[in-house]
Amino acid sequence: MKKIIDLVADELAEAFEKAGYERSYAKVTLSNRPDLCEYQCNGAMAGAKAYKKAPIMIAEAVAENLKDSRCIEEVNAVKPGFINMKLRNDYVAGFLNDMGADDELGVEKAKEPKMILVDYGGPNVAKPLHVGHLRSAIIGESIKRIARKMGHEVLGDIHLGDWGYQMGLIITELRERKPQLPYFDDNFQGEYPSEAPFTISELEEIYPTASQKAKEDETYREEALNATYLLQNGHRGYTAVWNHIMNISVADLKRNYANLNVEFDLWKGEADAQAYIPDMIERLKKEGYAHIDEGALVIDVQEETDTKEVPPCMIQKSDGASLYGTTDLATLVQREADYHPDKIIYVVDKRQELHFLQVFRASKKTGIVPEETHLRFLGFGTMNGKDGKPFKTREGGVMRLENLIAEIEEEMYKKIAENRTVAEDEAKETAKIVGMSAIKYGDLSNQASKDYVFDVDRFTSFEGNTGPYILYTIVRIKSILNKYQAQGKSFEGLAIESAHNESEKALMLEVAKYNEVMETAYEELAPHKVCAYIYDVANAFNRFYHETKILSEENEARQKSYIALLILAKKVLEACIDVLGFEAPERM
Ligand code: ARG
Repeated sequence: MKKIIDLVADELAEAFEKAGYERSYAKVTLSNRPDLCEYQCNGAMAGAKAYKKAPIMIAEAVAENLKDSRCIEEVNAVKPGFINMKLRNDYVAGFLNDMGADDELGVEKAKEPKMILVDYGGPNVAKPLHVGHLRSAIIGESIKRIARKMGHEVLGDIHLGDWGYQMGLIITELRERKPQLPYFDDNFQGEYPSEAPFTISELEEIYPTASQKAKEDETYREEALNATYLLQNGHRGYTAVWNHIMNISVADLKRNYANLNVEFDLWKGEADAQAYIPDMIERLKKEGYAHIDEGALVIDVQEETDTKEVPPCMIQKSDGASLYGTTDLATLVQREADYHPDKIIYVVDKRQELHFLQVFRASKKTGIVPEETHLRFLGFGTMNGKDGKPFKTREGGVMRLENLIAEIEEEMYKKIAENRTVAEDEAKETAKIVGMSAIKYGDLSNQASKDYVFDVDRFTSFEGNTGPYILYTIVRIKSILNKYQAQGKSFEGLAIESAHNESEKALMLEVAKYNEVMETAYEELAPHKVCAYIYDVANAFNRFYHETKILSEENEARQKSYIALLILAKKVLEACIDVLGFEAPERM
């Protein structure tokens, strides 16, 4: 369906043309004076210069031509040359009925769907998930869902950090503890055990212990580096240990991400890219893209128009080891071969921006990725505590994701139990659902690139611009709809009529913006715009609700119209929270 703002713009363009002016001046925006009008056009001011006329004259001529418009009820030319408009109530009602009849609520799917890969999550295997990975998961999941909603073919790839030094550390520590295991016996020829030599909790304890030891003990560090090297070069026993680490960690990660309502289509990782490295490096050398600089193999990526220095992309260290950039380039080789994506979106900490600039440039320059492939870095800011420093536990340690979720759920549970008399089980379940909205909305309502303060009290509040407030609003609508049905009335054959009062009209206008908001959120990769929108819808609904008797309305047609509007508002809110990655409970 066309966007309502474009429909208004079309009518306006007609009016400009009829008055003898270019259609291109008919740009429409939402009013910044909602007390005066709903939409406005400032095109007369822009046209004044070109036509050497007073803007008000242009505005008046255009306004005159809108007198019997299908969609504009009231139009005023206001000095110096604003064209202020209010939409016809029947037109808005008609638009909403069309929306309600459409499965997609008016969102137009892409005519030529793109193949899009979203690289997000990016946890490092065997290290516990921490809040830094929370943002990537939450934002990436939402981007993926928004792109799907727009009709694109989207794959989410977790891109595990599964090939680094942490693996060498774990192997080293395990060898110290259990040297008798066959993985460490170079003469062992048989089959390695299928059972892992550790549990997930041991694994989680092994990693920090080893990491600490390596910091204090140079020999230990050397050993871990060597173990990493051997693993990366196919050591049989270490590869078997690596497989155990992967199996155990991935199972744990899957559980954690499922708790967050985050789902990946691909569980690929850095290790999967390794097979592509030798050929890639060979070709880059042969074709002259890579050269040796101070012992390392690099690709120059500086461009003439750069105002700052962009260091070369390093692809091989002097000792032959590959680097983060090598892995990301090889991953692009693999993605190109497997999916030939039109677009890849990387949702990663913004401090990695330079790395991605180097990788993107190197991949285009060397033809790893075709020129037209859109590589996009979506860098996010840091999640801070109330003290403005990166979020920590009360004791000052790194906050684990699981603990953070538990803390929010606990807080939510207190609030829910305090207010209402529901059974404990239900309160627990609801606290989980509402807690998820608190975390996700708290994150997504900020522009991704900005740092934000994770404020448990604020995020879990039922008032203000929060997830729980949005859910509370949805639950309120559900409750009205349930009561309506409990009166023995049905949802069949309902239609939205022209608005009966001002707050109803305001709610209608908000609901009508849905397809526009979704499109913008996709184009700008901006879930925060979806958040801002549902906050507006929720506020408009609550105002309408407080000013209108719905269930006791005696005029039947009018009541039906209210109910139809509520059903549509609920659908819009639910579609929005779905792309944000959370859901609403039945009651709260
Ligand atoms: N594992 C990395 C980290 O924890 C993030 C990976 C981001 N994705 C990528 N293709 N490099 O920092």
